Amino acid sequence: MTEAVVSPPSEFVQFWNEILVPKFVKYKHVLVGGLGKHSAAIFPKLEVNAGEKVMDAGAGFGDTAIMLAKRVGPEGHVDAIDCCDAFLDYGRNDAAAAGAENVTFIEADIQFTPFQPEYDLVFSRFGTMFFENPVAAMKNMRRALKPGGRFTMIVWRDIADNPWLGAAKAVALKHLPQPGADARTCGPGPFSMADEELVTAQMKAAGYTDIVFERVDAPVRMGDNIEDAIGFQLALGPAGEVYREAGDKAEAAHDALVADLTALLSPHVTEDGVYMDSSSWVVSARNPG
Ligand SMILES: C[S@@+](CC[C@H](N)C(=O)[O-])C[C@H]1O[C@@H](n2cnc3c(N)ncnc32)[C@H](O)[C@@H]1O
Repeated sequence: MTEAVVSPPSEFVQFWNEILVPKFVKYKHVLVGGLGKHSAAIFPKLEVNAGEKVMDAGAGFGDTAIMLAKRVGPEGHVDAIDCCDAFLDYGRNDAAAAGAENVTFIEADIQFTPFQPEYDLVFSRFGTMFFENPVAAMKNMRRALKPGGRFTMIVWRDIADNPWLGAAKAVALKHLPQPGADARTCGPGPFSMADEELVTAQMKAAGYTDIVFERVDAPVRMGDNIEDAIGFQLALGPAGEVYREAGDKAEAAHDALVADLTALLSPHVTEDGVYMDSSSWVVSARNPG
């Protein structure tokens, strides 16, 4: 990979590092476990060949990168790229524990890093929905692919198809105002690639061919118990954003909000944790070269 670009960080990359890293670390058990269901659904049929070079874009805690490293074997290599080095440290530790020596964890902003056309596969699980300029970023990742190279990303479908995030947001908005246009955010956000037509147009504009969408529905385990699930909702996702942006009003509304979230989530409590439905697109494409 060409020298990684880490500075100056964009406002979104700063937001990930300053605001989201501690919250993601606290709820790692929800995120890795929950998001993992969507990659588990497609991993068995995902084409990954021994000896290949793979990029995991927005690799987060690195679990998919380590799985991909096992698939490419000792002759292959995985570059796990993320703009938050704090996430990648978990991946470095887990890779060392798993004896995976063929994965490198690299801090970089995927939008602006000048990649060489060296990858057989660029893979991303929920890592591509936060780019300031999606077409430019998708083009940059395409340029990282060898001619004929493969691209696969998993992105959330619409919020209406993701009650595990949407329902709590609706509850939060009963008590608190919609975040303003100047709210600090992680980028365009989790549902920014939900529209099949728009994303197809973006990918075509970025130079991809053979664009295919596959829907994956899976329950997400939102927490170990109701307190954990409520804590998750108030920290992350669209409800977390409403709560964070409300400042003092959030504190005043806290007890009523928790009561309503308890009523919302109670029917979803099982012996094994709190589950709600979620839905993603697996988008596959190719670099024509
Ligand atoms: C929702 S998390 C998904 C992480 C991981 N792929 C997973 O499935 O668990 C999105 C990830 O994208 C990373 N990210 C966001 N914008 C990025 C950028 N411009 N360049 C590199 N990584 C980025 C974040 O730091 C975060 O780790």
